[in-house]
Amino acid sequence: MKNGNNKVKKLLPWQHQHHHWSDQPGVNKRIQIAGINNQIFISKSTSLYNLQVIINGNNNKLKIGENCTISGFIEMFGDGNEISIGKDTLISSDVRLTAHRGKHIKIGERCLIADLTDIRTTDSHSILNDQKERINYDESVEIGDRVWLAREVMVLKGTIIGNDVVIGPRSVVSQKIPPNSIAVGFPARVVRTNTTWLVESI
Ligand SMILES: CC(C)(COP(=O)(O)OP(=O)(O)OC[C@H]1O[C@@H](n2cnc3c(N)ncnc32)[C@H](O)[C@@H]1OP(=O)(O)O)[C@@H](O)C(=O)NCCC(=O)NCCS
Repeated sequence: MKNGNNKVKKLLPWQHQHHHWSDQPGVNKRIQIAGINNQIFISKSTSLYNLQVIINGNNNKLKIGENCTISGFIEMFGDGNEISIGKDTLISSDVRLTAHRGKHIKIGERCLIADLTDIRTTDSHSILNDQKERINYDESVEIGDRVWLAREVMVLKGTIIGNDVVIGPRSVVSQKIPPNSIAVGFPARVVRTNTTWLVESI
């Protein structure tokens, strides 16, 4: 596939089975790539619904594991970003994953990410001190296994969320959240520890 003067690498799922993006289960999938050597690996068993992927740069990588259901917007700008999503993870509608300038967003297995959640490695705009030096650098984000982010959570640059965590709706997370905990609020603070949760609806 050619995109202007840029080459767009053929889309391959994990495990090197050749199939095309349009064969992926799901509906209304859109992808725009400008750059070279960008790679998208999506397991055949994963479904994509109203997913838009925009890559603008080189050597970016998107990996989505087995049995996921993925919606929303995935954006990578600049070179060498990586977004990975572990198996059995559900990402709901209008969720936005944004990685800029060589950072990664790692989301673990069996996570549940509810509508309108925003996960980003960047503030998108520079903040300068009085010497005109930038003070808000981009930082990678890591989300463990079995993490439930309720509706409209914002996960900011540098956030690290441990395994088996719940983040309450409309929370803003920017720090390290320990495993087996519940954190809520703006800014998110741990309100319970030694907890787990079940994905089944009750
Ligand atoms: C996060 C949640 C699951 C935790 O449930 P819980 O363990 O029963 O804890 P509680 O609801 O008692 O909340 C604990 C404390 O955090 C506060 N809190 C809970 N969610 C909050 C939020 N989003 N923002 C700010 N404070 C919050 C509660 O007011 C409570 O404060 P208190 O101890 O001063 O009374 C629950 O509060 C929640 O937000 N449920 C909604 C889940 C949802 O949106 N589901 C839709 C599908 S994803």
